[in-house]
Amino acid sequence: MISVFGSLVGEEEIKAVADVMRSQWMGFGSKVAEFERMYQEKFDIPNFALVDSGSNALFLAVKLLDLPVGSKVIVPSFTWVSCAQAVLLAGCVPVFCDVDLHTMNISAETIREAWQNDIAAIMVVHYAGLPAEMDEIKEFGVPVIEDAAHAVNSTYKGKACGIIGDIGIFSYDAVKNLTVGEGGGIASCNPDIIERAKRLRYCGIGKSGFENAGESANNKWWEYNISEPFIKMLPTNIAAAIGIEQLKKIDSLQIYRKQIWEYYTDKLSGIQQIILPKEPGDDATHSYFTYCIRAESRDQLAKFLLDKGIYTTLRYHPLHLNKLYGQMGIDLPNSQRLNMDALSLPLHPRLTDTDLAQITESILDFYRY
Ligand SMILES: Cc1ncc(COP(=O)(O)O)c(C=O)c1O
Repeated sequence: MISVFGSLVGEEEIKAVADVMRSQWMGFGSKVAEFERMYQEKFDIPNFALVDSGSNALFLAVKLLDLPVGSKVIVPSFTWVSCAQAVLLAGCVPVFCDVDLHTMNISAETIREAWQNDIAAIMVVHYAGLPAEMDEIKEFGVPVIEDAAHAVNSTYKGKACGIIGDIGIFSYDAVKNLTVGEGGGIASCNPDIIERAKRLRYCGIGKSGFENAGESANNKWWEYNISEPFIKMLPTNIAAAIGIEQLKKIDSLQIYRKQIWEYYTDKLSGIQQIILPKEPGDDATHSYFTYCIRAESRDQLAKFLLDKGIYTTLRYHPLHLNKLYGQMGIDLPNSQRLNMDALSLPLHPRLTDTDLAQITESILDFYRY
């Protein structure tokens, strides 16, 4: 089966993990600090903290805005559940917003349609890695959280996605452009926000775990201040060690993702029943996380490909269509349309030339080209 998402780890990651295990310090420690330094340098991010998942980073980001309980936060409907869950868990209310059909991102226009007087913040998702139009979104004048889970390596007007709004998050789960197994990141241009994030990720404790014992034991290691209540979302040295090796390879991984993207565009552009994903403008770069087409007879196409051993998927089932959020009655036509015709084709660094040829030939075959 050709999988739709995937990562590529090699002997370097295996050795790095083995080295951490031999060091007997597998939890939070110096590898995390090393990864954070490298990540900041690579993407020119002034303040950054690694946490244990992108979903937790989203929750942390909403908490860091200190919004009063019950505050309304605009969230795209066409996104992963963690976006709405983070808002709810932080005591706020998601207000679902439609996306633009071509970019699959929220835009000034779709935000205006969802706008209410008391909107306290906006959560933006750079869907598939295509940067949203951040300048116009920032003009609404409320804090902006950027979900850059797909957008590691995407830039907007020369800046890394994730540091254009007030707080940004990344995901490094097993299928993302840069994987640490499971992990996430949080970034901001404001150093106080990330300094606080680093306390919160360790139950609100000011000292980090490895300062208390083990790697660099200090005097009175048993003492610490707890600044505010929070849960634990510490990353591990094991995850960070994988991330360090992935960071060294990220440029070549990205080049291959771009080649796959261009191959699909070249082979599929003549098919009238398919709309290809939007390319970035001159002021943006794409991370090529997923190649999401819009296809006539989408479900039949997906089944046809599955029968040929090619797995495809839809990311994501619109959130407002989920009973849990109690907003099933609202009409978000573009998200609903994408729910019926969007399809992510396989895009990851383990795909071979043979896989790619098989995928595109099968699609051509389905539409009888
Ligand atoms: C848009 C978006 N936000 C957040 C997340 C959550 O990231 P994680 O899987 O690291 O928790 C994902 C994961 O797929 C995602 O796609």
